[in-house]
Amino acid sequence: MTVDPPWALLAELTHRCPLRCGYCSNPVELVGRSTELTAGEWAGVFRQAADLGVVQTHLSGGEPLLRRDLPDIVAAAERAGLYTQLVTSGVGLGERRLDELVAAGLHSVQLSVQHADPDASDRIAGARSFAAKERAARLIRAAGLPFGLNIVLHRTNIDALDDLIALGVAWGADRIELAHTQFHGWALRNRATLLPTRNQVDRARTTLTRWRERPGPAPELIWVTPDHIDGVAKPCMGGWGALSLTVAPDGTVLPCPAAAALPGLDPPNVRDRQLDWIWRESRAFNAYRGDSWMRDPCRSCGLSSTDHGGCRCQAFALTGDATRTDPACRLSPDHALIRDLVDSPRPAATPVHAYREGAP
Ligand code: FES
Repeated sequence: MTVDPPWALLAELTHRCPLRCGYCSNPVELVGRSTELTAGEWAGVFRQAADLGVVQTHLSGGEPLLRRDLPDIVAAAERAGLYTQLVTSGVGLGERRLDELVAAGLHSVQLSVQHADPDASDRIAGARSFAAKERAARLIRAAGLPFGLNIVLHRTNIDALDDLIALGVAWGADRIELAHTQFHGWALRNRATLLPTRNQVDRARTTLTRWRERPGPAPELIWVTPDHIDGVAKPCMGGWGALSLTVAPDGTVLPCPAAAALPGLDPPNVRDRQLDWIWRESRAFNAYRGDSWMRDPCRSCGLSSTDHGGCRCQAFALTGDATRTDPACRLSPDHALIRDLVDSPRPAATPVHAYREGAP
């Protein structure tokens, strides 16, 4: 089978984070600081990625600003010719820090916010952070960098969508990503409390349509499908080993950020292998590439060429078998696992979820 080159690299620079969001989709077992790749090792990863065909890298975490050597890492990506996007909570993004990153070659920033109300945002994040985010937004705008705002939607904040979009407009975001919670890693523990009701999602859709139909200039509004509610499988990562790769803080290379939880994957590491071999030859990247691994109903379904059978990590988390059709799909024989949860009566009170525990 011909393997096309990837175009994006998710560089998880650290799993350390000042926030404690209950919807965190990073693994339950986080990588500790002592095994993080050095800036020099990241420089090698970026060179190999560029040689492989990658054109952009998302510098993510955890919170990448916790890496003091972040300007060196940005400069290394710039030298490799990669477009860089910093994915940040905004905590620690002062004027001097941003100046250093821009001087190193940073191209764009994606900032997260948890709620439009400062107290609610801090409560969801499990840390005082809203004021830092507000300041970071101002600095990003003043620096003239392309500015994306990321909002993870769940039961506690989805009713505030109108205010959240208005906040993004007030902060000057070019793009607002409305991303329904992905139930991987830590977030899976909190699925029952994070999952919105069908009525909440319907109301949010109406709000979204109203904003999209407003005349005049407006940020781009991206709506990431709520697969649990819609009964459709997401084309996760654009297909396994098809478009992008993830390098974890300790150099483990994965087809998606959640794949570390899959059994028998034996994920390779950039400390042992070249990225080109990892992408083309490794067992991990070939495990669910293409469609030969698929079973029915995916195998005989016309949708599989676009949804790629959905998410392998979700299929494994819910059924114990990563080769099954993603239960989010209403055609899956396991769809009741999701439908019953979505349609089960749930208390009206604001749910409480378990805060994320930090990296060692
Ligand atoms: Fe791993 Fe979807 S998150 S395949």
